[in-house]
Amino acid sequence: MLSPLRPKIEAIVNNEDVEIKIRLQQICDLLRENISYYDWVGFYFKNGTKDELKLGPYSGEPTDHTIIPFGKGICGQVALSNENFVVPDVKAQDNYIACSINVKAEIVVPLFVNGENIGQIDIDSNTTDPFNKDDEEFLEFVNKEVAKIL
Ligand code: SME
Repeated sequence: MLSPLRPKIEAIVNNEDVEIKIRLQQICDLLRENISYYDWVGFYFKNGTKDELKLGPYSGEPTDHTIIPFGKGICGQVALSNENFVVPDVKAQDNYIACSINVKAEIVVPLFVNGENIGQIDIDSNTTDPFNKDDEEFLEFVNKEVAKIL
């Protein structure tokens, strides 16, 4: 179900006629609309020289969490750990920032440009424990593609 989306991601990334921000928006929309258990999809990026993340393009309900300090929440932890973070059940996490009462699970995958962690893709799901290795590999692929245009 995820692999047919790979050529579509490549096509979006390679479409130089479209502004980069819009291409990132198109990726968020593509994932949310085509993967049933992806209910919110967004990119966060390091905010200049500050030790915080700033929300970039996203698809889904608006969130209050447009700025997240490094270390805070799942996203802030990934900014420091450089590792994928899969949360099967958000209720079991103590360092978690709730965006919506409907969210049950989350996956955050860091985005590297020239080996530097410059941001991440964040997926919220309203289904408990929906993510597996295929999601991690797929989102790593998405981030590698996006890294080519950042
Ligand atoms: N839940 C995230 C905050 C971002 S929202 O999911 C959009 C966290 O704990 O970092």
